[in-house]
Amino acid sequence: KPLVIAIDGPAASGKSSTAQWVAQLLNVHHVDSGAFYRAITLLALGTGVAPELWTSQAVLAEAHRITWRLTERSVLPLVDGAEHDEAMRDAPVTRQVSRVAQMAAVRHWVNDQVRAAGAATDVVVDGRDIGTAVFPTAALKVFLVADPWERARRRLIQRLGRRPNDAEIAEETEALVARDALDAAQSAPARDAITIDTTTVTQEEQVERIVALAKA
Ligand code: CDP
Repeated sequence: KPLVIAIDGPAASGKSSTAQWVAQLLNVHHVDSGAFYRAITLLALGTGVAPELWTSQAVLAEAHRITWRLTERSVLPLVDGAEHDEAMRDAPVTRQVSRVAQMAAVRHWVNDQVRAAGAATDVVVDGRDIGTAVFPTAALKVFLVADPWERARRRLIQRLGRRPNDAEIAEETEALVARDALDAAQSAPARDAITIDTTTVTQEEQVERIVALAKA
């Protein structure tokens, strides 16, 4: 039975980069479940229909265009057979992704993709509900939290490649907190999850801690 490690947490809590690093150290594959929500949102935007009018049927009509393949270290979602990482991380997708992620039928579809990946190989999966809904029997469940201001600061450094100013951080904090509220229904930590507050912890320390837990 393949190994599953679940890493959940709110927006920009460092789930993806942490999961990627942990997967590398454990020599297993990283699955970014949010990437599937982002990919399907990108396709929904491409239909030209106003987001307020999106239905789960119309959104899922695009799902056949999304596939995934195993690379050396990750499960890579593809749209029409190609990587669309940049467009998936862009503001238009980020603004609408929670709307799509609230659709039960879409969650069902993403969960199927992620479970199929987890059945194929050992995985470290990051998301919101991996330890609760997707892999409730995961060998290890981690829930990452961090102060919203710090999360906003880190996300902006990643996006801008420079130190953001306070006004920029304030604006991003507001956007993150709003998205957390929209995602709240599917973002509770599992009862058996280990919570790590990363506000004052370096990424290296948190990765080491998770790897140690995985090996324990
Ligand atoms: O790291 P960040 O929160 O910015 O992005 P992400 O992990 O790529 O997730 C993007 C969006 O997908 C979230 O805001 C949620 O709406 C949704 N999501 C979800 O509902 N459940 C998951 N397991 C993963 C992502």
